[in-house]
Amino acid sequence: MTAKIIDGKEFAAGVRAKVAEHVVRLKEENGLVPGLAVVLVGEDPASQVYVKNKHRSTVEVGMNSFEHRLPADTSEADLLALIDQLNTDPTVHGILCQLPLPAHLDEELVINSIVPEKDVDGFHISNVGLLNTGQKSMVPCTPLGCLMMLRDHHGSLSGLNAVVVGRSNIVGKPMASLLLRDSCTVTIAHSRTKNIEALCRSADIIVAAVGRPEMITGDWIGEGATVIDVGINRIDHPEKEGKTKLVGDVHFDSAVKVAGAITPVPGGVGPMTIACLLASTLTACCRSNG
Ligand code: GUN
Repeated sequence: MTAKIIDGKEFAAGVRAKVAEHVVRLKEENGLVPGLAVVLVGEDPASQVYVKNKHRSTVEVGMNSFEHRLPADTSEADLLALIDQLNTDPTVHGILCQLPLPAHLDEELVINSIVPEKDVDGFHISNVGLLNTGQKSMVPCTPLGCLMMLRDHHGSLSGLNAVVVGRSNIVGKPMASLLLRDSCTVTIAHSRTKNIEALCRSADIIVAAVGRPEMITGDWIGEGATVIDVGINRIDHPEKEGKTKLVGDVHFDSAVKVAGAITPVPGGVGPMTIACLLASTLTACCRSNG
């Protein structure tokens, strides 16, 4: 058996096209253009790439993109002042502060200074609470993208056994909340979980978000299970000296032989994250307009 490859690139293109259509209508009917402000502090190379891609995608769907690049030694007061200004700017509907922040900045404080209605990352403590109590909230983009692909593949997720590997606030925990909301039976596995291989093998759905390259191999996966790989890890290329290669948290070549469906890296979850960010910005804009 060879798994169906879930094409995140194609799926994301469909989501972006729908967002772009809505943006046109919003402009025609309400004279509103959704605006996304992205704040980047410092020069982390991976973050710079992410922010550039976010800007390009935002403009492509017809939204306003406001990029704020600040030096690595920016003070907390200056960063909070910028966020305050974005919070009250009526042309800004979504605010994203790219993580990780430099070590001298308090990430929790900064995230919680964004007004919850504009927190398109869904990281604000109010949004976390709303999500966990099943109320309307902004939802973190990566888990939302994973959920959309799972719903598309399975139809209903009700009653399925899901194992989320990884307990981060950005992916693992909100992913578990979303799956529970869709009536899955959810287990969060992590570095201390006993018999993690057997636990994963019992799952109908595995979401891998641990940040350990190719940790989940084919023998961890039950026949026909759906595998969503959130990992993006750069490793030395196994065949090409001096080159690197992007891999997920799942060992694709062994997993693809056992799974029923699997997302590749790259081209799986990654493109869906940005598409969901745009969809959340659109939602924030619509809600701001009543
Ligand atoms: N850094 C890595 N992933 C994310 C994300 O989803 N949101 C933000 N703000 N920063 C990130």
